[in-house]
Amino acid sequence: MELSRVVTLGALAAGVALVGWIWLAAGQSGAGRPDAGMAQAGLLRPDDTELVSRGAEIYARACANCHGARLEGQPGWRTRRGLAPAHDETGHTWHHPDGMLLRVVREGTVRMGGAMPAFKGVLTEEEMLAVMSFIKSRWPRKVREAHDAINARAG
Ligand code: HEC
Repeated sequence: MELSRVVTLGALAAGVALVGWIWLAAGQSGAGRPDAGMAQAGLLRPDDTELVSRGAEIYARACANCHGARLEGQPGWRTRRGLAPAHDETGHTWHHPDGMLLRVVREGTVRMGGAMPAFKGVLTEEEMLAVMSFIKSRWPRKVREAHDAINARAG
């Protein structure tokens, strides 16, 4: 075989191997994620009905007394400091990326002079994810999309 043909075949084989590797890598990163392929940025899973229904129970038990049974916030929260804000689309919860929201739930804001209790040690990480996924599931489609974009920008 001529040298040029050997080189061409070698390059071809390398190309096939590369395509195969990319295909495998892409398949792996999507494994176990039912929403793989859909443009869903962030950590919350508002379309995971099982997770969301668990989150709804946790919300009713641990959050509703302050943030309101319908996510409406404590009366007067807009004008008075220290009151629990709404988690529906009228609040500012959706202005923050997932990582920040989960951090507020985990660590609270008491150390920063706020009144949100820390849930670390009270709820598991999975339960915090469930409750925030439930909250996101209640936002209108447009707000959810805006929040996806905020997550994408946050990296
Ligand atoms: C004792 C009342 C209280 C309870 C219970 C409570 N929160 Fe809060 N939460 C607050 C207050 C007050 C704030 C406003 C932050 C501040 O004052 O610093 C807040 C803020 C937040 C924020 C940030 C919102 C934003 O727009 O920045 C998130 C997210 C949040 N709470 C989630 C939860 C979740 C989830 C639960 C239940 C697991 C919960 N909270 C339970 C009082 C509460």
